[in-house]
Amino acid sequence: MTDRRPGHVLLGINVLVLGYLPAAWQSPLLKKDSFVDPGYWAEIGRTAERGTLDAIFLADGPLLTDPAYDANPVRLEPTVNWGQVAAVTEHVGLVATASTTFNDPFELAERLLSWDNLTGGRAAWNLVTTRGAAAARNFGLPDVPLREDRYERASEFVDVVRALWASAATGDEVRHHGEFFDVEGRLRVPPSRQGHPVLFQAGGSPKGRALAGRVAEGVFAAELTKDQAIEHYRLVKRLARDNGRSPDEVKILPGLLLSLGSTEDEARRRSDELHDAGPASYSLQWLSQAIGYDASKLELDEPFPEDVLAAPSDPQTFQGSLGFRESIVAQIRRTKPTVREYLKQTRYTGSGHAGFVGTPEQLADHIEDWFHSGAIDGFNLQPDVLVDGLPVIADELVPILRKRGLYRHEYETDTLRGHLLAGSPTPSPETL
Ligand SMILES: Cc1cc2nc3c(=O)[nH]c(=O)nc-3n(C[C@H](O)[C@H](O)[C@H](O)COP(=O)(O)O)c2cc1C
Repeated sequence: MTDRRPGHVLLGINVLVLGYLPAAWQSPLLKKDSFVDPGYWAEIGRTAERGTLDAIFLADGPLLTDPAYDANPVRLEPTVNWGQVAAVTEHVGLVATASTTFNDPFELAERLLSWDNLTGGRAAWNLVTTRGAAAARNFGLPDVPLREDRYERASEFVDVVRALWASAATGDEVRHHGEFFDVEGRLRVPPSRQGHPVLFQAGGSPKGRALAGRVAEGVFAAELTKDQAIEHYRLVKRLARDNGRSPDEVKILPGLLLSLGSTEDEARRRSDELHDAGPASYSLQWLSQAIGYDASKLELDEPFPEDVLAAPSDPQTFQGSLGFRESIVAQIRRTKPTVREYLKQTRYTGSGHAGFVGTPEQLADHIEDWFHSGAIDGFNLQPDVLVDGLPVIADELVPILRKRGLYRHEYETDTLRGHLLAGSPTPSPETL
């Protein structure tokens, strides 16, 4: 372990509706319609708050996905979903993902700031650019624009949104005339208790990281190894500094897939049983999507061919996340497994996030190690099955972290920006 560093680790939960594993819906603790049950969502919010967690995250997905590779093919729109949870909680931050490719900046700025007001300043926008032709077809496009173009639009989009949020405080009109947007006017929504929603970003390609360094206050990252996480952590912090910001203004939280048990054996059994209860094709489908190559064409007992690792089969049209792809390829290069070994070892579930199977005590060791190594500011934890995985985090992991001086005993503020950036002032219009 490297030198201790002061401060508290940040903990978010990537809710993924029922859990990250495709068998999550089979939990006897769930009802058929839990994902639309206000009681289910209230319980998640309250449990997260019981653990004084920083935030709970929801991904978006403006398309109906294939259950063969999406554990949660049905879901609600995140700001609406979190609206219900805001009403029954007081402290926990609420992060909603929304696309810059398929939204309008004025409309989204208004919706997010309105929602932030009603949460009492606990809202965050997780900015993504969205991948996949199926999403594009819902918006009258045959396919998503190329990644570079999506990020060009994202960059201007976020400038418009921030200008509109600033205008809510100053009353000045926004006069924006750019390549993608023309906006003249202002919102009639007032600033929230935290000024405006916290800005998260997810997407680890060079353009994604550049955008994070310029504007993000939080990054939802995808890291498979500690070394890689340290490298990316330093990169984004440096990019923030290059943009005249304090590196401390951008917090980095990679996802971490969890199966927990009271002994290591129990955790492994739980993980095995849940994986075995899911569809066998799941890993192969996800891997294909993530690396941009039809993995069913690979020889199962051979290592991954170099050309498959080097680039997607069609780099021009590869729509997956480059950030995820880079993590997966680095892991394969390091351990050099055959395709069969890789699928067996990783039980690849499609995200490019590292997995952890063990006890809450061991998880606390893992978090402490990555935190003190300068790899993370915190983790966005992703339980296999949320309904019984989240209480273990709130009631067992958090007390261990508290004893080690790594986590708060109670909320010290009641805004999300306060939780994440304790010590940083609420942004004033001049600093936006
Ligand atoms: C950790 C993480 C979470 C993401 N969550 C979403 C999401 O909820 N919705 C979405 O459309 N894209 C999501 N993405 C994908 C990207 O933001 C994006 O849509 C795109 O493919 C660009 O990613 P890239 O910069 O890694 O290439 C996520 C990416 C990462 C790394």
